[in-house]
Parts: sequence; structure tokens; C-alpha cells
Amino acid sequence: MAAFSASSLFLLFLLFGFSAAKELLVGGKIDAWKIPSSESDSLNQWAEKSRFRVGDHLVWKYESGKDSVLEVTREGYANCNTSNPIKEYSDGNTKVKLERPGAFYFISGAKGHCEKGQKVIVVVMSPRHTFTAVSPAPSPAEMEGPAVAPTSSATMLKLGLFSAVGVLAMSLGFLM
Ligand SMILES: *[C@@H]1O[C@H](CO)[C@@H](O)[C@H](O)[C@H]1NC(C)=O
Repeated sequence: MAAFSASSLFLLFLLFGFSAAKELLVGGKIDAWKIPSSESDSLNQWAEKSRFRVGDHLVWKYESGKDSVLEVTREGYANCNTSNPIKEYSDGNTKVKLERPGAFYFISGAKGHCEKGQKVIVVVMSPRHTFTAVSPAPSPAEMEGPAVAPTSSATMLKLGLFSAVGVLAMSLGFLM
């Protein structure tokens, strides 16, 4: 029972502690939505180091009118094709909710920017993926339960026998 409630608490902690939706500033800093200065500065390096979950929001900060954010298909991303985006944002303070697991492709709508690396792929983990990663943790605690129980009752039995023998010896001692 103790092992069960401990693992339940652990599971609750994981579910609530990690599922709180977050706002993630794309690139990790205010002025990150621009042509990257070098490969090490690339937005995808930031994306690979970040974890995205369903319900999180991506936030872009940029100068409205000078740049924009286009959500495009995989092909649109690969070809830097700005002509037919899935969605287009140009308000300078763009917030996009990640409503499903899987890949999202974003490119800059400013002419020539995508070709110079101003683009990012965001991969949102599926809830099941998160759960699979979590489930091995509670199982050792649950396995301990039945393994511990016989040991402790055996110990109790031994202790009982020892004290019975002790009491007997003491009584015998008193008698002799
Ligand atoms: C860009 O996308 C449009 C619409 O999807 C398509 O018609 C056009 O051929 C594409 N251009 C390039 C260069 O891939």
C-alpha cells in the first residue's frame, strides 16, 4: 500500500508538475527572429534543445511591417516558399498555440530571410510519448511491494520464534 501511494504521488507530480502549458520565446531571446549570424546561432539549435508540449505557445517578437512569421508545410519549409502559407502573422508579437503533436514549420515572410536560415522546425511531443517515458519509473516501487511483504513476515515469524525461545529459556532459568 505504501509503495502504491508513493508511486501514485510521483505520477501525479509528473502529470501536474510537467503538464503546465508554457510560453516559449522562439530562439530563447527577444531579438532572435532574424537571419542567424552563424550556424551555431541557428534557430533549430534552440528548437532541438527545447521541449514542446501540446498546449504550449510559441511567441515571436519582431518589428511589425519589417518581418513576419509564416506557418508552412514541410515542402514550403524546404523550398522557402512564402507564396501559400498555412497561416501568416505580421503583428510583431505573434503567439501560436501548439494544438497537436508533431512537426510545425515556420519561416520568415521577409524576402530572402528564409534562404539565409531564418526558419525553424518545432516538434511537439505526443502525450503518449511522455507517458511511455514516465511509466518505467513507478514500476520498480510497485515490484518492491510483494517482494518486501514475505520477507518482513518471515522476519516477524523469526522474531516471534526467537522471543518464544527466549521466554522459554528465561522461564527455564527461573525454574532451575
Ligand atoms: C510555392 O507554392 C505554390 C503554392 O503551393 C506553388 O504553386 C509554387 O510552385 C511553389 N513554388 C516553388 C518555387 O516551389
